[in-house]
Amino acid sequence: MSSVTVRVPAKVNLQLSVGPLRDDGYHELATVFQAVSLLDEVVARPGAGGVRLSMTGEGDGALPLDGRNLAVRAATLLAERAGVAADVDLAIAKAIPVAGGMAGGSADAAAALVACDALWRLATPREDLVELAAELGSDVPFLLQGGTAIGTGRGEQLTSVLSRGEFHWVFALANGGLSTPAVYGECDRLRADRAVPDPYVSDMLMQAVRAGDPVLLGKALHNDLQPAALSLQPALQQVLDVGEDFGALGGLVSGSGPTVALLARDAEHGLDLAVALSSSGTCRSVRRATGPVPGARVVG
Ligand code: C5P
Repeated sequence: MSSVTVRVPAKVNLQLSVGPLRDDGYHELATVFQAVSLLDEVVARPGAGGVRLSMTGEGDGALPLDGRNLAVRAATLLAERAGVAADVDLAIAKAIPVAGGMAGGSADAAAALVACDALWRLATPREDLVELAAELGSDVPFLLQGGTAIGTGRGEQLTSVLSRGEFHWVFALANGGLSTPAVYGECDRLRADRAVPDPYVSDMLMQAVRAGDPVLLGKALHNDLQPAALSLQPALQQVLDVGEDFGALGGLVSGSGPTVALLARDAEHGLDLAVALSSSGTCRSVRRATGPVPGARVVG
């Protein structure tokens, strides 16, 4: 095979309920993921020995291209478990912001698993790929699966959710990123004086997703990490305020931030919101996307 192209979406957490810190350093979560049409593209070609990686687009030059990169680790792990030579050239065109709270690194890892599995003609059983994904990171299994899903445990245990219709999102990309462990740490610090209840998924949110009701979804959006992200990057509040001023049905920090997700009424309103955000000067750039969309898959 001369090359394999895989497209993979970003994610937004419609709800992120963060429970107590566990003994293993992770937090017990109840989250609802939605895959959105902000897509990275990963092309895998036969290599000249070893795993080589090049990247263009978002975060150009900002990411390591060696074994610290999650996509390289994904290819290496798959080769190791399958007992084949890790021999591939990976080229990633990135649209998902780096360290943006949209699981861009996890998405590339999921895409690298799917691309190498096809390139090396392994036909790895789905459940084995999902297991490798969970080893690579808490969000990687969801980026394989896509759609809308409830995530429990550290986010890696998934239950699909039937979702009606299409939701229209506007994402405000920030200057710089936020470190996920730092945001979880700040969350712990901010609520150190309180008992942390077990995480849960809201009934209203599930009803909104099942009914395809954007007005109800806008009201139900919630992220326990938002106070922590705002504490570390207070200017994000201005982005949320612009969203509210221009009639967003709801808005929240995406995952650990600093990307802000705003829910629009429809495609036209999404365009209006995007224009308002762009001219507000409160963010680096703006992207429109819809969700839910499928997970990492071979195209072309
Ligand atoms: O699993 P992943 O490598 O993506 O997680 C990155 C970091 O985010 C973890 O090292 C941890 O600090 C934090 N995290 C957490 N609880 C989770 C998921 C991630 O504290 N459920």
